[in-house]
Amino acid sequence: MITGAARGLGAQIARRFSAAGAHVIINDMNLAPAKATAAELGGDAVACDVSDPESVAAMFAEVGRLTDQLDILVNNAGISGIEGDNDARERIRQTAEALARGEPSDLDSGITEVTTEQWRRMIAVHLDGTFFCSREAVRLMKPRASGNIINMGSIMGTFGRQGPSA
Ligand SMILES: NC(=O)c1ccc[n+]([C@@H]2O[C@H](COP(=O)([O-])OP(=O)(O)OC[C@H]3O[C@@H](n4cnc5c(N)ncnc54)[C@H](O)[C@@H]3O)[C@@H](O)[C@H]2O)c1
Repeated sequence: MITGAARGLGAQIARRFSAAGAHVIINDMNLAPAKATAAELGGDAVACDVSDPESVAAMFAEVGRLTDQLDILVNNAGISGIEGDNDARERIRQTAEALARGEPSDLDSGITEVTTEQWRRMIAVHLDGTFFCSREAVRLMKPRASGNIINMGSIMGTFGRQGPSA
């Protein structure tokens, strides 16, 4: 099972697992895009916001009905925090170009522009979501005393940068 796998890296991870012979279960926020990726791979689709514990529990109950052998959970669902913010993207591009030229750039990480709501959403999706999904996955894996959990990380978790500094 891969979270946030309707598109992007998650969908590509699902393709690799599928090519290796796995039956994949695709999670995403909305069912329709998750279904489209699952259909491509002959897998199943389940929808929920991973930051919501009740929805996550309900989703894993469904996963338990789909399979009695959950081998792997990939916690991939994530956000940059600047979705749709073209100004932030442009600032990131300019900062990267300045750094590539070896020029001193404005290394203010942008932290002063991050709202409390953006901070809380970042933590909710990445930290809460990883925990809630892992907790439910282990409930399914425990009877077989077998299973693996892979957590996606990012270099953006190691330093601040213009835009997604949260
Ligand atoms: N793209 C990169 O360069 C990069 C680099 C390092 C790490 N990452 C990490 O890899 C993961 C995937 O990144 P991507 O670039 O493929 O992103 P993306 O935006 O292309 O895809 C993310 C998917 O996650 C889904 N999603 C977002 N919030 C969700 C939630 N609360 N519940 C369920 N699904 C949710 C989105 O709908 C989307 O389909 C993220 O965790 C990201 O932090 C990305």
